[in-house]
Amino acid sequence: MSSDHKTFRTVIEPFTIKSVEPLRLTTKEERIGILEEAKHNLFKIKSQDVIIDLLTDSGTGAMSSEQWAAIMRGDESYAGSLSFQRFEAAVQDLMGFKNVIPTHQGRAAERILFSVMCKPGDVVPNNTHFDTTRANVEFQHAEARDLVINEGLDPQSRHPFKGNMDPEKLEETIKDVGVDRIPLCMLTITNNSGGGQPVSMGNVKAVKAVLDKYGIPLYFDAARFAENAYFIKLREPGYEEIPVKEIVREMMGYADGCTMSAKKDGMVNIGGFLCTNSDVLAQQEKDLLILTEGFPTYGGLAGRDLDAIAVGLTEVVQEDYLKYRLAEARYLGEHLAEIGYPIVQPPGGHAVYIDAKELLPHIPPLQYPGQSLSTAFFLEGGIRTVEIGSVMFGKIDEKTGVETPGHMELVRLALPRRTHTQSHIDYVVEVARELYDKRASLRGYKITKQPKFLRHFSAEFSPI
Ligand code: F0G
Repeated sequence: MSSDHKTFRTVIEPFTIKSVEPLRLTTKEERIGILEEAKHNLFKIKSQDVIIDLLTDSGTGAMSSEQWAAIMRGDESYAGSLSFQRFEAAVQDLMGFKNVIPTHQGRAAERILFSVMCKPGDVVPNNTHFDTTRANVEFQHAEARDLVINEGLDPQSRHPFKGNMDPEKLEETIKDVGVDRIPLCMLTITNNSGGGQPVSMGNVKAVKAVLDKYGIPLYFDAARFAENAYFIKLREPGYEEIPVKEIVREMMGYADGCTMSAKKDGMVNIGGFLCTNSDVLAQQEKDLLILTEGFPTYGGLAGRDLDAIAVGLTEVVQEDYLKYRLAEARYLGEHLAEIGYPIVQPPGGHAVYIDAKELLPHIPPLQYPGQSLSTAFFLEGGIRTVEIGSVMFGKIDEKTGVETPGHMELVRLALPRRTHTQSHIDYVVEVARELYDKRASLRGYKITKQPKFLRHFSAEFSPI
C-alpha cells in the first residue's frame, strides 16, 4: 500500500486471512462472449465471471472473526432480543442518538424517514443526494436539492473537503422556498455521488448554525461516517490528536438523527438503521416500520445480523483499519493518476472515480464514454466497475424523446472493505496501464432496450 507518511513504511493490511474464496481466472476470449451475452451491461454478469469486483463497496466486504463469532450469539426472539439490545447499545455508544430503529438496509431507513417528515411540494437540501435518497424524496412528491460547494463539482479541485455544503446556498434556498417547505436538511458523509468526498466538522457546524436560525432539523446520511471522521482527523486542523470515535460523537452531536446503510461502515453484508432524537417521530417511524420491515427490535433483519453490526461498528472506528482503508484508495488513485488517468482528486474514502469524458474525448456523452470504459476494464482484465454518468443519470424527455446527458461521465472503482490484497490492486493498475495505451481505440455505445427508470440496472447496449 502507500507508504505511511510518518514512518515511510508500507501501510499493510491490518489483518490476516482465515477463510478464502477462490477466483476463476477467465481469458479475454471468454470475456468477449460473457459481455455479449450480458448485452454489454455489467450488472447482468454473473459474479463467478468477474475476477476483481469493484462494482460497489456496499455489502461486499469481509466480516471479521469476531463478527462471525457474534453471528453465533444471535438471539432470534421476535421481540426484545439480546441481539437488539447489543445493537442499540453499540449505535448509541458510538453516535449518541436517543432512538435507534433497525432496517434491512439504508434505503428502507430513507423511505421511512421521508414518509414521516415530507409532504408534497417540500424541498430537502443535501450536499449531494445519493440516488436512492433522491428517489425516496421524490417518491413523496418533494424535491431533492443538491447544494454542494462549487469545488465539489470540479473533478480537479484539490479542496480537502469537497463534500461540504455551501451554507450560503442553503440560506438562500431557505429564504427562497420558505421554512415551512423544508422539513429537514441532510448531509451525506462522505459524499458518495460527489466522488466519496468528506465533509469537514467546520462545515457541519456552519450548516447547523444556518438551520438553527430557522428551526430546521439536520440528519446525516451516515453510510460512510467513519471514513468521513478519519478524513477530519487527517485534514482538519485541531483534530490530529482526537480519537476517531470522539470525532464521530462530536459530528453526530450536531444532528437530530441519521439514516445508515450498515452495508458500508457497519462492516456487514446486509443491514441499516434510522436514528432520531425525537420520541414523537420515532413512534411514527416505528409504526411504519411494522408495516413493511418488521417489529422495532429487528426491523427486517435477523438477530444475528444485528449482532454483526454491533461488532462492525466497533471495528470500523479502529484507526489502523481506517489508515489502511484510506491508503488503499489513495494507492489505487495515485497509480491511476500517474499513468495519466484523469481522476476525481483527491481520491475519496471508498473508491476512485475516473473522468471518462476527459479520458475519451472522442466519445460524445450520449454515446456513453463511461459505459465504454467500464466494459473495456471488464474485457481487458475481468474487472467490474460501475458507470456513474449518462447511463445512470441521463434524462429522456417523455414528450420529445430527447435525451439530456448527466453532469459528469464517471467510472467508479469501489473498494469492498478488507477484501482485496495489494497484489489485487496492482493487477488493476496493470490492466489500467494497458487499457490507457489503447484508449483511442475505444468506441461508444448505443442503448438498444431500456426500462423507464433506474435504467442502468437492466438496459441493453450495442457497441457503435
Ligand atoms: N446513501 C449512500 C451515500 C449510499 O452510498 C447508499 C448506497 C445508500 C444511501 C443506500 O443504502 O444500498 O443500503 O439501501 N450505496 C451503494 C453504492 C448502493 O454502490 O454506492 P442501501
